[in-house]
Amino acid sequence: MEELQAARARIDRIDAELARLFAERMAAAAEIGAWKRAHGRPVRDPAREAELLARNTARIEDPRLRPYFGRLLETLLVESRRWQGEAQADLAPVLRRGALAEAGAVLPRQGRIFLVTDDGIPAPYVGALAGQCRSCVVYSLPQGEASKSPEQLTELLRAMLAAGLTRSDCVAALGGGVVCDLAGLAAGLYMRGIDCCYFPTSLLAMVDAALGGKTAIDLDGVKNAVGLFRQPRAVVIDPDTLATLPPRQLANGLAEAVKMALTHDAALFARFEDPAGYGDPEELIAACLKIKSAVVAADEREAGLRRVLNFGHTLGHGIEAAAEGRLLHGECVALGMLPMCAPPLRERLRAVLERLGLPTYVNFHEIDPERVMAAVVHDKKAGPEGCIESVFVPEPGRFEFQRLTAAELRARLMLLAQN
Ligand SMILES: NC(=O)c1ccc[n+]([C@@H]2O[C@H](COP(=O)([O-])OP(=O)(O)OC[C@H]3O[C@@H](n4cnc5c(N)ncnc54)[C@H](O)[C@@H]3O)[C@@H](O)[C@H]2O)c1
Repeated sequence: MEELQAARARIDRIDAELARLFAERMAAAAEIGAWKRAHGRPVRDPAREAELLARNTARIEDPRLRPYFGRLLETLLVESRRWQGEAQADLAPVLRRGALAEAGAVLPRQGRIFLVTDDGIPAPYVGALAGQCRSCVVYSLPQGEASKSPEQLTELLRAMLAAGLTRSDCVAALGGGVVCDLAGLAAGLYMRGIDCCYFPTSLLAMVDAALGGKTAIDLDGVKNAVGLFRQPRAVVIDPDTLATLPPRQLANGLAEAVKMALTHDAALFARFEDPAGYGDPEELIAACLKIKSAVVAADEREAGLRRVLNFGHTLGHGIEAAAEGRLLHGECVALGMLPMCAPPLRERLRAVLERLGLPTYVNFHEIDPERVMAAVVHDKKAGPEGCIESVFVPEPGRFEFQRLTAAELRARLMLLAQN
């Protein structure tokens, strides 16, 4: 009896020590998960797991015990992978008023910061971020969609090379979706990929472009034709920077927020329908972040569910291409959503968009529908047999995928004609 109790006491002590070591091991796994996320590496690393299993199993002297220990380690590896995945999902963006003043905390302490911005971003924001970096080079792009070009990408990469950036340096993107898309892509390509942090300053970038790890430039009139999936090391959102955003740009971002409300959150859409206004921008951004993070966590590479975020984009991208810079991205998305809603909802959406200052009709004398359709079918979302996958919303908070022919999409487009 005494021996039994003594052995049980030993096991209790060992289990307590194992629990402590387990927590320590999982903390290290979470760090590895964060690094892999920042560098776009998959959680699973079969070669490393096999090596770790063989090396540690060999440490058990009694050969009869080795298979037992091997199985224990295998379980540990499975749980560790699961935890790495969860820890990655935990790397939520920082969203706080005044966050830009402390944003430097997310930047690596070692190495240099290559701060990419555009010439429309107020100088105090650039100064605030640059002032928090130990060593910083500022590179300013011409503002606007035209900067998402191969020429501008090459110029940016040349500037990074000329600055002597190394793999331990980091790109900081401060600006709207254009800066995030271009700087994120350049960071992903330079020396096979260096770290990048996003500091979105437009509402559109805060609710959409800075999240989810998609980067791209346009090519030959095709939007986002060339890009990478690559998660940033961190995203810091300071809603105070919206104070200087021109009203048209604010409405542009609201279009993407309405998109998320329509497809995922009926209560959020009701806030847009409230004649008193949609309320606090910080809450609005938080609601959109929640939706986008959930969609991206379920389908990072856009193999399925993430395509829902293209709601309004099929026709929207076509209109954007045909408008040749006269309409903003969000304005085109607003237009593109209307024909893709059930008729009763379409009228409710039209009222919301009008209140937000977004367009709801297209003047087809100025924008050629044939050019819109040519861009739509060339868009990367065109599927086999000429069918184009589109997202349809029958009622707020619900969506369906529809496969439409070009003729069917053209008929939907013409619903936007002003009477
Ligand atoms: N990667 C993605 O997942 C994703 C998602 C949605 C959109 N996008 C892309 O985002 C781009 C559009 O982004 P956008 O609407 O932010 O446009 P943008 O980056 O061109 O910014 C809009 C304008 O606002 C100015 N600006 C930005 N912040 C400001 C501030 N705080 N104060 C004053 N001026 C400010 C900029 O200088 C610019 O002139 C498009 O190219 C689109 O394809 C990407």
